[in-house]
Amino acid sequence: MSKTTDLIQFSAVNFAYGQSKIFQNLDVGFAAGKVTAIMGGSGSGKTTILKLIGGQVRPQQGSVRCEASVVNQMKHHELFAYRKRVGMLFQFGALFTDLNVFDNVAFPLREQTTLPEVAIRDLVLMKLHAVGLRGASSLMPAELSGGMARRVALARAIALDPSLMLYDEPFTGLDPISTAITGNLIRTLNDALGITSIFVTHDIKASFKVADEVVLLSRGSVTARGTPSDLLESKDPLVRQFVNGEVDGPVPFHVPSKPYQEDLEVGMGRTDR
Ligand SMILES: Nc1ncnc2c1ncn2[C@@H]1O[C@H](COP(=O)(O)OP(=O)(O)OP(=O)(O)O)[C@@H](O)[C@H]1O
Ligand SMILES: [Mg+2]
Repeated sequence: MSKTTDLIQFSAVNFAYGQSKIFQNLDVGFAAGKVTAIMGGSGSGKTTILKLIGGQVRPQQGSVRCEASVVNQMKHHELFAYRKRVGMLFQFGALFTDLNVFDNVAFPLREQTTLPEVAIRDLVLMKLHAVGLRGASSLMPAELSGGMARRVALARAIALDPSLMLYDEPFTGLDPISTAITGNLIRTLNDALGITSIFVTHDIKASFKVADEVVLLSRGSVTARGTPSDLLESKDPLVRQFVNGEVDGPVPFHVPSKPYQEDLEVGMGRTDR
């Protein structure tokens, strides 16, 4: 197997929100030109990884690199230039409700470039065509189904020709057909545009179908990284629990908390601790 290079590299990353430690000594890479799925339980830090990559949050220690640049050391203007190359589709990829589909997709082009309107028109139609919605360009967001709205948000996210696409829960709230369409789009756009894609999801079926690689997070670090078939064949109990969606296993159901009895005592007015 040929060795792939990583576009994004986390090295010895420590990250906490205040006192709440999310990652300790996290080392993980995301392969250039590939589609990688980040999976893991709720609260395992999936969205936080995307924020670290996008430079919305910075690690307390360690580095997040994109090729040779250290994202967490970028100055404001460097971060601004870097973010132009990163497309982001957030869970509720909100469209501007008072702009039609065309103007939603044109928005980043009008804001961030000095292209003439005729070039913007061609680009918008090209992006809408790529997501199968060229015929919907004059509709308002309220006239779209959830799956269509997601695709418009996707067209808007690729408007500036990013070299890296980040998707947070792209399948949430979609029916199985729209999920398959969105999954196919992530795959086709990645390959047709020659970009790198990273998406976060709970949907094992969709992610194993679309992704080249899967990164499984648990307890502040990476439990497994491999192809979908590597994970399916894994003997690791954590991986098995996740892949099979089992309730019982090494992944705890409860968020770490003080003993239940202590909480009950406080509730009963016993604050003499
Ligand atoms: N801005 C914030 N301030 C404080 N804590 C936060 C903040 N954002 C997230 N957290 C906490 O950090 C942990 C990881 O959050 P994150 O959003 O990365 O999880 P996730 O894996 O994306 O979860 P989900 O699957 O539920 O979206 C959670 O325990 C969450 O409560
Ligand atoms: Mg999340």
